[in-house]
Amino acid sequence: MRSTFTALTRAALAVTALFIAITGNANELAAGKDTVLITGANRGIGLGFAQHYAAAGWNVIATARSPGGAQELQSLAGQYPNVVVEALDVTDGNAIAALSARYQGKPIDLLINNAGVLGDLEAQRFGDYDADVFQQVMAVNVFGPMKMSEAFADQVAASKHRKIVTITSSAAIITGASRPNALQFYSISKAAVNKAMRGIQGELAAKGVLVILLSPGGVMTDMVREAFGDRVSQMNTQTVDQSVSAMVEVIAGVDSSYDGSHLDYKGNKIPW
Ligand SMILES: NC(=O)c1ccc[n+]([C@@H]2O[C@H](COP(=O)([O-])OP(=O)(O)OC[C@H]3O[C@@H](n4cnc5c(N)ncnc54)[C@H](OP(=O)(O)O)[C@@H]3O)[C@@H](O)[C@H]2O)c1
Repeated sequence: MRSTFTALTRAALAVTALFIAITGNANELAAGKDTVLITGANRGIGLGFAQHYAAAGWNVIATARSPGGAQELQSLAGQYPNVVVEALDVTDGNAIAALSARYQGKPIDLLINNAGVLGDLEAQRFGDYDADVFQQVMAVNVFGPMKMSEAFADQVAASKHRKIVTITSSAAIITGASRPNALQFYSISKAAVNKAMRGIQGELAAKGVLVILLSPGGVMTDMVREAFGDRVSQMNTQTVDQSVSAMVEVIAGVDSSYDGSHLDYKGNKIPW
């Protein structure tokens, strides 16, 4: 009986240690350093941001749906003590609230709403519109950034830089000609998140928070590879590092003169 109890206790301790190893602890943030919180930081552009800010000495709260499987992010956290990995699905409002509560009173200089999905391509073709896929794309790409911005507004407002960046897309552009089969759900979600963030800019302006809309350009990531398969070889894309390095410059340069425009990775205004 006693040995069973001891074995169970050891197992519980091992699970706790593993949990601590693969998820974060708000108290690990170094005092006096700038802090960034990034959603979808396990791969692609989000991972690129995490790598960049970690190397620049920032505290990085890097969130991922499945931290246990996020090997590159875990190795980044192993390399930089200023990287804290947190589990977060941006469609889970309770999880967002719980994460915000754990970081209550901790200034967050920069929130990057990066997590996004393209959605199944066939399900967004005219003639085959699928309501479930539409809702999933909207939940991740629109409501996720809205809820994150709402939940972390106080921590951002209490920081030095006070910036919320949402990674949007030129797919959001409404003016100009529309192509057939042009990623309808994804495009709608990015246009919607642009409008949503303009609204949140209005909510947070009095607190001095800048709510920034930023497009990364075409970037070779899993999103693009999975969606376009063999056709990616014909696409003119940048590397994650090229896009992230440029966006970091744009983010750093945005100041109180920012008018809420949708900016590209070079800082140029993109039409609505
Ligand atoms: N790549 C481009 O050319 C391009 C162009 C314009 C805009 N963007 C935008 O850039 C952002 C990053 O895209 P990417 O190219 O880096 O794509 P990616 O490689 O597919 O990465 C997307 C990230 O979002 C995460 N994610 C998806 N659903 C989530 C959820 N419910 N909760 C939390 N995280 C979730 C993914 O996590 P899992 O690994 O768990 O799925 C992954 O970490 C997106 O907002 C995208 O729309 C990309």
